[in-house]
Amino acid sequence: MERVKEGDTVHLKGKTASFFLKVKAGEIFSTHLGNIDLNQLLSCSYGETIFTHKGNSFLVLKPSLYEIIMYGINRKTQIVYPKDSGYITLKLGLRNGMKVLESGIGSGGMSIVMANALYPDGRIYAYERDRDFLENAIKNIDLAGFRHIVIPHHADLSEEVEERDFDAAFIDVREPWLYISKLNSLLKKGAMVGFLVPTTNQVSEVIKELKENLFVNLEVEEIMLRGYKPVPDRLRPEDKMIAHTGYLIFARKGF
Ligand SMILES: C[S@@+](CC[C@H](N)C(=O)[O-])C[C@H]1O[C@@H](n2cnc3c(N)ncnc32)[C@H](O)[C@@H]1O
Repeated sequence: MERVKEGDTVHLKGKTASFFLKVKAGEIFSTHLGNIDLNQLLSCSYGETIFTHKGNSFLVLKPSLYEIIMYGINRKTQIVYPKDSGYITLKLGLRNGMKVLESGIGSGGMSIVMANALYPDGRIYAYERDRDFLENAIKNIDLAGFRHIVIPHHADLSEEVEERDFDAAFIDVREPWLYISKLNSLLKKGAMVGFLVPTTNQVSEVIKELKENLFVNLEVEEIMLRGYKPVPDRLRPEDKMIAHTGYLIFARKGF
């Protein structure tokens, strides 16, 4: 069985509450259900049960990236949900060693998924204009174990970008069309770019500008995900769903 190690991010699943924490020897993790001695956690294996000083039990789990993004990270902005970020990462063709431009970093939700595909040698050059968001995103990316993949820049995307020849870019800002001619000079020929925008009028602005700048292979897509109630004798969809997150736009820099 895999042992819990110093620096691991662990999911503690209780009957009424779940916690995600980074394990540091000598520290105490306090919850409303009691304290957990992290030295004791370091002597556990994943799948075992640990007890707080009040006797409440928690299952010690290794979190999936999905769980870290949905329940572990601190959200200070809207994030790209896993249903979209997983697909975007595949569409951009991200893999180890690639150099990717991202803006804005928001809460790091998208950066974590891209970093997982780029690990261990790829890099994300992330441009975020809000310092507070950037600092929070870095903590979130660290929680997911990908700090060294992301090179953060506290800057507006309209400012100078020193790096060139990006293999791909992902842009999640309010007015992405303003930066498309700039992307043209930053991307390698044939490189993929992806955008996420919440409204159709933003989609129109983006595709107008992509055409103007001779990008090719334009695609506009939307992903809907519907959960089901896991009741064998009455299997049916959940009553509520997240009906809309954003429109996805993809293109390649023209040859
Ligand atoms: C919706 S959030 C991005 C969420 C992120 N993709 C995630 O999954 O966590 C948009 C971010 O873009 C930043 N932003 C907006 N315009 C920008 C610009 N021109 N340059 C840099 N950052 C910008 C905002 O401060 C905000 O943090």
